[in-house]
Amino acid sequence: MSELIQPIRGMNDILPDATPRWQQLESVTRAVLTAYGYREMRVPIVEKTELFARSIGEVTDIVEKEMYSFEDRNGEHLTLRPEATAGMVRAGLSNGLLHNQVQRLWCLGPMFRHERPQKGRYRQFHQVDVEAYGLAGPDIDAELNIMLARLWKALGVEALELQINTLGTPASRKEYRKLLLEYFRRHLDALDADSRRRLETNPLRILDSKVPETRAVVEGAPNLLEHLDAESAAHFAGFKKFLDDAGIRYRVNPRLVRGLDYYTRTVFEWVTTRLGAQDAVCSGGRYDGLVEHLGGKPTPAIGFAMGMERLVALMEDVQVPLPDSSPHAYLVRVGAEAERAGFKLAEQLRSALPGLRLLTDCSGGDFGKQLKRADKSGARVALVLGDNEARNQQVGFKPLRNTTEQVNISWEQAAARLAAWLE
Ligand code: HAM
Repeated sequence: MSELIQPIRGMNDILPDATPRWQQLESVTRAVLTAYGYREMRVPIVEKTELFARSIGEVTDIVEKEMYSFEDRNGEHLTLRPEATAGMVRAGLSNGLLHNQVQRLWCLGPMFRHERPQKGRYRQFHQVDVEAYGLAGPDIDAELNIMLARLWKALGVEALELQINTLGTPASRKEYRKLLLEYFRRHLDALDADSRRRLETNPLRILDSKVPETRAVVEGAPNLLEHLDAESAAHFAGFKKFLDDAGIRYRVNPRLVRGLDYYTRTVFEWVTTRLGAQDAVCSGGRYDGLVEHLGGKPTPAIGFAMGMERLVALMEDVQVPLPDSSPHAYLVRVGAEAERAGFKLAEQLRSALPGLRLLTDCSGGDFGKQLKRADKSGARVALVLGDNEARNQQVGFKPLRNTTEQVNISWEQAAARLAAWLE
């Protein structure tokens, strides 16, 4: 026997027992997004490497060490998308969707990052990504989060905390960066190696370091919120006011800086205490400079992405009830005539009862064997067809979940009887 090929580390199969939960997450999300005017877009999983380097930033963890990049057969440098925002902007620009327009768009699918796999952190993971273009005011920043609060409620995962911050404009951030550099240089010895490396390239990222000795230094660092330009401060105040009006609770976290370089002003994260270290189930922010940076006209933009694996885990953890997906009815056919007639009956029933989950036994064997499988399937009723019944257009109707006796009914009555039984 040849050796089994192993799956790739950090890339999961989502098995049939798990997909009902994913489908539930997707259908609830789709309904909420549609209710707020967001339209789905489908974009490629592979883009030019340059797109991600230019959008996410050359000196971010993602671009420096996590991308799945390769040369294709024509020597083009391509990358499996590590996130969706860059591709959404690229697609918006390629198709003339962004200039002087308001667009509310979303997409869903797998993302790829070569991170160290652990619970809640994978190399292939899935995001629902939501983006709004052409809206500069803080109202859309608030509306996205009001929509998310509604989504959490609809999904049954309400114990999430919203953390918010503002990064100001690139100009005010530059000034702040200088202050931060001075401060960290004075405390160089107390920083961990990774933070020291980041000092010259991306000192803001030191603010969200998880290393205890570095955290102690960060406590005393200058606060970005005290060095904001006036317009960013007003934008942030407006954002908070709208959230207050809507009764959305939040915590201002001045250390929230995000791992992608394209953000300006508002950033936010919804976190949970129920999943361990990987606590962010949804994160995003404003990125007013990115469209222009990728060759378009200046266009305000804001969005977020939800980690679907983390949301599924959270729904499992709080035991959100799942709709029943076991078959309603199980068709047993014994004998050559019954086997052929059974398909006819099954199709009649499916036409008469949209939404009916009817499983036909195609494994063969006598009545006893098939009825055992019917029972195991979780079906509520077995429809039992032998050659005699088939000839007379009759069928045995056998409830499986109580002691009601099997009765013979005509094919004509079968749909009505099933409907009444399944109510
Ligand atoms: P991000 O924070 O890199 O932002 O990812 C968003 C979410 O994806 C995270 O909050 C987390 O739930 C999930 N996630 C990230 N990495 C992993 C992983 N390795 N395994 C499992 N889940 C993960 C972005 O991707 C931005 N594009 C969000 C955005 C959209 N900003 C504006 N528009």
